[in-house]
Amino acid sequence: MEKKVVLTGIKPTGVPHVGNYFGAIKPALELSRNYESRFFIADYHSLNSLKDPELLKQYVYEVAACWLACGLDPQKVMFYRQSGVPETFELTTIIMAFSSKGLMNRAHAYKAMVDKNREKGKPDDHNVNMGLFTYPVLMAADILLFDTDLVPVGKDQVQHIEMAQDIAEALNHNYKTQLLQRPEAMVSENTQTIVGMDGRKMSKSYNNTIPFFAPEKQLKKLVNKIVTNSQDIEEPKDPDSCSVFTLYKLFATQDEQQALAERYRAGGMGWGHAKAELFEKMNSLIKPMRERYEELMNDKSYIEKLLKEGEAKARELAAEKIRQLRKAIGID
Ligand code: ADP
Ligand code: TRP
Repeated sequence: MEKKVVLTGIKPTGVPHVGNYFGAIKPALELSRNYESRFFIADYHSLNSLKDPELLKQYVYEVAACWLACGLDPQKVMFYRQSGVPETFELTTIIMAFSSKGLMNRAHAYKAMVDKNREKGKPDDHNVNMGLFTYPVLMAADILLFDTDLVPVGKDQVQHIEMAQDIAEALNHNYKTQLLQRPEAMVSENTQTIVGMDGRKMSKSYNNTIPFFAPEKQLKKLVNKIVTNSQDIEEPKDPDSCSVFTLYKLFATQDEQQALAERYRAGGMGWGHAKAELFEKMNSLIKPMRERYEELMNDKSYIEKLLKEGEAKARELAAEKIRQLRKAIGID
């Protein structure tokens, strides 16, 4: 039986953070052991919000180096930039004709912008570009181009995968052929929403992220900035309502988690101690990966070479898909 296809992408809009690692990168790399895998850098997706060419370039390398340092094996995984597979944009044009505007109106990212505008008394579409409005169509093209079965993502992206399903079904229905594979989202239960330094979802948009490869000193500083309550050292503390503990759980074994939880409940442990424990755990996991990441960031031509190789492979598959579709729609 043919292996199923798993695909996921990360937008290069900033340096990868702990939420990206646990919500997207780690689960994807685990799946790559048993699936045909395609992991890519969604660079054109960034353009909607990022219009500084130097920064965009920098973030593409950051995200690429992050995937590689976290263990992506380019011999096993197809690894590429979205922009390196221009067939994506032809598929976008094709599926535009099967994507209803009403569907786009319901997209969370667009709705959030509208709500923000209303709050400020601005017109609904203030600052909304067409790239943002049609974002789910481009994302559907990324997915549908490669006959994807599974898309590991954080919870916030599930709606986009559902839209890709709707679009695929609309096209298949019209041509009465299974031209596009129906993708399924895959959200891992315990890592669906990683909290940031302020206890809200960790996100670049909230400015509460802990960059995964922050240098040791900066990592320590950020951990110390995690918001806690004002209980003093002696008081027993509740691990389950504490962001420090929530983050600790991601890095520690079951036994270690239990041991720290007991220290919380017993009292006599201050926030400084809890944070020091968290920093140690984080740093010991991240350290070897950080070293590899720094090496890679100092050798961008190597990253470039790997991406180009991945793009050549991806384009072969993509071109075949576009050929099939053009034939089916009568443009060949
Ligand atoms: P951000 O919200 O910081 O802009 P992205 O939207 O670029 O992050 O997310 C890239 C990937 O990482 C997506 O699959 C997303 O679902 C996942 N992700 C981002 N933040 C988190 C989080 N706090 N918890 C779990 N997954 C996350
Ligand atoms: N929209 C995703 C995000 O913001 C990134 C992305 C673009 C993606 N294309 C994709 C994720 C295709 C999975 C599959 O995080």
